[in-house]
Order: sequence, then structure tokens, then C-alpha cells
Amino acid sequence: MLLRDTFDLVMTAEDATAVAHYNRALNKLLTLNKDPLEAVNAALARDPNLVMGQVLRGLLYALSTERAQLPDARAALAAGQALAAGATPREQAHLAALTAWSEGRLQAACAHWEDILVAHPNDALAMFAAHQGDFFLGQTSELRDRVARRLPQTEPDSALAGYYLGMLAFGYEEMGDYARAEDAGRRSVLSDRRNTWALHAVAHVMEMTHRLDEGVEWLVSRAPDWSKDSFFAVHNWWHLALFYLEGEQWSAALALYDEHIRGTDSSVILELIDASALLWRLRLQGVDVGDRWQQLAAIWLQRGEAGWYAFNDVHAMLAYAGAGLAGPATQLLVHLETTALGVGDNATMTREVGLPLARALWACAQDRHAEAVTLLLPVKAISVRAGGSHAQRDLVSQTLLRAAENAGQRALARALLNERLALKPQSRLSRAWLERVDA
Ligand SMILES: [Fe+2]
Repeated sequence: MLLRDTFDLVMTAEDATAVAHYNRALNKLLTLNKDPLEAVNAALARDPNLVMGQVLRGLLYALSTERAQLPDARAALAAGQALAAGATPREQAHLAALTAWSEGRLQAACAHWEDILVAHPNDALAMFAAHQGDFFLGQTSELRDRVARRLPQTEPDSALAGYYLGMLAFGYEEMGDYARAEDAGRRSVLSDRRNTWALHAVAHVMEMTHRLDEGVEWLVSRAPDWSKDSFFAVHNWWHLALFYLEGEQWSAALALYDEHIRGTDSSVILELIDASALLWRLRLQGVDVGDRWQQLAAIWLQRGEAGWYAFNDVHAMLAYAGAGLAGPATQLLVHLETTALGVGDNATMTREVGLPLARALWACAQDRHAEAVTLLLPVKAISVRAGGSHAQRDLVSQTLLRAAENAGQRALARALLNERLALKPQSRLSRAWLERVDA
């Protein structure tokens, strides 16, 4: 029997209530609600043969980028594959994409989602998954263009158009098209004020254009919409902390760290990434963060996730370097060296970016600053290949700058500060840094 989902896509289903739960799960995913699993589990409890329910369940685990979630992703995939014979071509393509992703073939997964979107521009699940894939792979132009290929085929002012606008906003932002990004993001938030991805895209615009007060106002005034029940809450708190860092308000940033970024004992990798990234930025400014590094490194160690996604591994290294843990740092480097010898998307990311970056971070921690500069210089230009946003990858530039400063390479440090001030002439942080280097 065939029914239709909330975006009018045909799906193999027996039970309208199961489809309603599936729709609820899809909406939760698209707004980055923290528990779409509850809704998809309700759908599958009602109808275990709901192929798209198994696909969605598998994606929730797979897109986490956590190795520990892969068994659950593969279990959902296996349940979905058992139903493949009676599934529609679109559902079969979703199974193929999930298969590829679960095997670490991320670009291949994106190609399957793209095929789906050519035939079904209204497949918001394929779009969401591909958009995340583009982010993880550093396919920056696709963050914009994959969405732009579909938006004209959505109904203006529809919920679907609102979700796509939120993704387009982030794509525009990462491509440096800030006015369009802000416009799309604000329109998306009008469509659904809890669309955390769109809210987040506008926060990125404020960050990149150095509108610190507006950025704080944007996030703080809308905190009720993004900070409760959101999978992305910690990341948006991190964005708020970035505005404070640019204003050299270290204690305000640390207060956010204590209250919201590490306000729980969460071991969700996405949240550990933000914690590592914030503490490292504070370290680069010489701010004493007490025993926070040790606490954070202990959680990373418990997770022991190395070798699945280079971006995560680099952030684990930040914690080990920050805490000065030679054993875990060395072990992680060995793991990354092995990973870099392999094949596949993550092997490439590790070889080109993850491994040299991790080596550089550990060199920084051991005061081998000239070596860190040598390692970081070539990585800086290609760090996009390991994914993340401009705001996240700025950590590489800041680390290189600090290493150059510590190594006594003042001409290089000066050049890097010229670069920063060209983009953000009003940056108090960069001005103070320049004065320090010139002193
Ligand atoms: Fe972000």
C-alpha cells in the first residue's frame, strides 16, 4: 500500500498513524530537535515495515559522525534492506545512500541523495542528509548549489521552502555571500522560528561580518527557540561565546562554557567538539582555564572514537594537547597514521588535513612552535577538505598565528594578522594581537 508523507512523497506504508509519526520525526530532524528518534521509533512500533522509517532511523545514527552509533545505523539499514523488494525506487535509492554512508563512502552517499533530488526535488530528507554530507566533506559550493537546484520547485511560503531557505542561507554564508545569506536565514526563521539551522546560519553571518552586538542580540533574544530541546543548542552557545572572544571578554566566554557548553556530562561528539574548540581559542590567548582541559580530555578518552571522521579526531587532539596528555596524544597520532594509509573519504581527509593538523597541535603543546608552523602552513589553505565551517576552521589560522608568534617568526605573524584585519578591520582581538606582535 502506498501513502504520502508530509511533503507529498509516495511511501510504502500500511498505517496512516505510523506515517504521521514519521512526519513528526522528519520535522524534528529538519529543525534539529534533539529527539527525532522518539518519533521514528513510534512510527516503527506502529509499522515495522515502514521502509522510510528504517531509513530515517538509520540516518539519525549515521549522520552523528560517531563510530559508536554505526551498529545502530547498520541495524536499521538491515531492517530496511529486508523490505527493499517491495519498496519504491526512491526508497531503494535511500537505502543505497545509507549503505554508502555506513561504509564510509560519504561522497557516494551524496551522489545517491542527489539522484533522488533530481527526480524528487521535494525530498527534504535527501536534501537534509546531502546538505550535512556537503558540510562534513567540505563541499562548500554544494552547500549552496544543491539547495538552489531545488528551491524554485517548492511552493513559495510552504514549510518545505522554509527548510530549504535555512539550508540555502548556510550555503550562501559559507560562500561569503552574506547579504543573501542573512535574507534567506531571516525568511526561513519567519517560516519556522525553531529552525535552528537557519538561526545558526544568521549567527554565522554576524560572526563573519563582525557584527558582534547584533550577533549577541540575535542569539540571546531567540534563545528560547534554539536552546531548548535542540540537538544544536551547545553549538549555538559556542557561537555566542565566539562573539565574546572577539571582544576579549574571556570570563563571559568561560561562563558560557561552564553553564551551557559543558553544563552537563554529555559525551555527544558534536558537543565535545565545541568544548575543545572554545578552550583552545582561550588557550591561544593565554587564558587560564583551570582543570577544564583535564575534565574534557577524560570524556574524549572514554569515547575513544578515532579513525571514523578526521574532524572529530582533530578536536580530540585539541583536548589531549590542552591537557598535556602524551600517551593519548601519541596513541591518536598512531591511529591517524594508520587511517591515513587506507582508502576512502576519511582516509583522504586524514592524510591531507587531519594527521598534519593533529601533529601540529601536539607540537604546539610541546612548545615545538617552528615545527607547528611548518606543519600548519600547507594545511591552512586546504583545511576545508576535512569539513566544518569557516568559523570552525578559523582555529587553524589562529593556531598558526600563535605558533608563528611563539616561534619568533614575527614577519609571518604580521602577515597573518594583515589577513585577519583585511576581513575584520574592527576586530579588537586582532588589533590587540597585532600590538603584541609589533611590540
Ligand atoms: Fe556553526
